Amino acid sequence: MDPDRALEILKDQACSEEVIDHAKAVAEKSVEIAENISDRSGKVDVELIKIGALLHDIGRSRTHGIPHGVEGGRILREIGLEEFARFAENHLGAGITGEEAEKLGLPERDYLPNSLEEKIVTYADNLVRGHEFQTYEQALKELRGELGPEHPSIERFRKIHNEIKKLGGIRQ
Ligand SMILES: [Fe+2]
Repeated sequence: MDPDRALEILKDQACSEEVIDHAKAVAEKSVEIAENISDRSGKVDVELIKIGALLHDIGRSRTHGIPHGVEGGRILREIGLEEFARFAENHLGAGITGEEAEKLGLPERDYLPNSLEEKIVTYADNLVRGHEFQTYEQALKELRGELGPEHPSIERFRKIHNEIKKLGGIRQ
């Protein structure tokens, strides 16, 4: 899919300018990481990531609460874009387990980023605040502040960071 088409879809769904600017920044960061990995091993789908990142917050057209992930997946499946639904469903925090989902009132199942592509978008989403970039350390601090220092998402985020770093995704 052309990135312009993805942006059109966000507008059709009545996503705000803020959501669209955020999506563009997440796509930029995701592609940067994916291209770094691609230069090393070539085992990552940069095009899939670009569109997945642009569409990951489409559910914010309906709600900004935690269900925006599930809602986004539902919208994408409805409009025949099932291949991108998991980017929306599995991007919150660093993923949500079935047990946590139940407590949060979400339909009970795992919402964990599985593929490397999903992990990259989830990771990049944490590195973008609004449409501004932040470092991994800042993102970690933000997550700790939001969820509490002992929340399992902190460890999940750290694991994704280490995996991406090992693959050469982060250049500093
Ligand atoms: Fe989101």
